[in-house]
Amino acid sequence: MAISIYPVTPDFAAEVGDVDLAKPLSPEDRDAIKAAFWQYAVLVFPAQGLTSDQHVAFAQVFGPMEPNINSYADEIKKERIDNRVSDVSNLDADNNILPAESRKRQSGLANRLWHTDSSFRHVPALTSLLYSRRVAPIGGHTQFADMRAAWDALPTAMQQRIDGLVVEHSIFHSRATIGFTDYSERERTSLPGALQLLVRTIPESGRRALYLASHAFRIAGMPDDEAHGLIAELMAHATQRQFVHTHRWRQNDLVMWDNRCTMHRGTEYDERRWPRDMHRATVSDIGNTREAAAGHAKHAAA
Ligand SMILES: [Fe+2]
Repeated sequence: MAISIYPVTPDFAAEVGDVDLAKPLSPEDRDAIKAAFWQYAVLVFPAQGLTSDQHVAFAQVFGPMEPNINSYADEIKKERIDNRVSDVSNLDADNNILPAESRKRQSGLANRLWHTDSSFRHVPALTSLLYSRRVAPIGGHTQFADMRAAWDALPTAMQQRIDGLVVEHSIFHSRATIGFTDYSERERTSLPGALQLLVRTIPESGRRALYLASHAFRIAGMPDDEAHGLIAELMAHATQRQFVHTHRWRQNDLVMWDNRCTMHRGTEYDERRWPRDMHRATVSDIGNTREAAAGHAKHAAA
């Protein structure tokens, strides 16, 4: 039986049924899932029962895994979960709710800012696959913004103004905006930030997309005050409600999104009361956005 696709809108977010991601995919299902992913950018697979091995195996259908990092690494004495996946939870190694002063908890609060995963790394993330093992009964949703639709809706003059601009991203910038600056020198050195194009072309669809995040803080060749204003204006534009889909989690949902053309954020929940346990597998993009664009142009000219 072929997979079923239930779009949320004609080109953004869809639910996918009649597929068991715990099993190897048939070539037909794999191709159909990829085609849906390039079209909708956010896919929801309900009622999946996945081990970490199965979660990782499905992620690898889309490319190599990104090395796992923890921006609160100095706190971690032992991993709570398989170290190939990121621990997006409010739990300690014994599955107890983290204390208020936990660095892991404070760093995790930055997930409530609009962002795309790993834009602060030279090679950012292509897709993230978030699997819910335990959900909060109220709150704790994930919102997604369609950065292709946001680009399409910009006035032509703005599109021309920003096309080709290069933006500097740093994880420490987004953390600083929520007042979290408590990082060791070792942690800062390990994540030096990255330069990324502000406007990308998604090869599979040919669509253009804004590439922004709360990690963005500087634009090459532009005075900082002007850059801050432009970034804030574009972030406000891109996160208008007509571009946003909100996913309300059920236990055992696997949700994957295209980091190249979406932003996301977690919504508030009472994280001192409700355990929320999510595992994230992250697939690397093929290169830095500027190098990928140069390669794409070369390929197109050949
Ligand atoms: Fe994220």
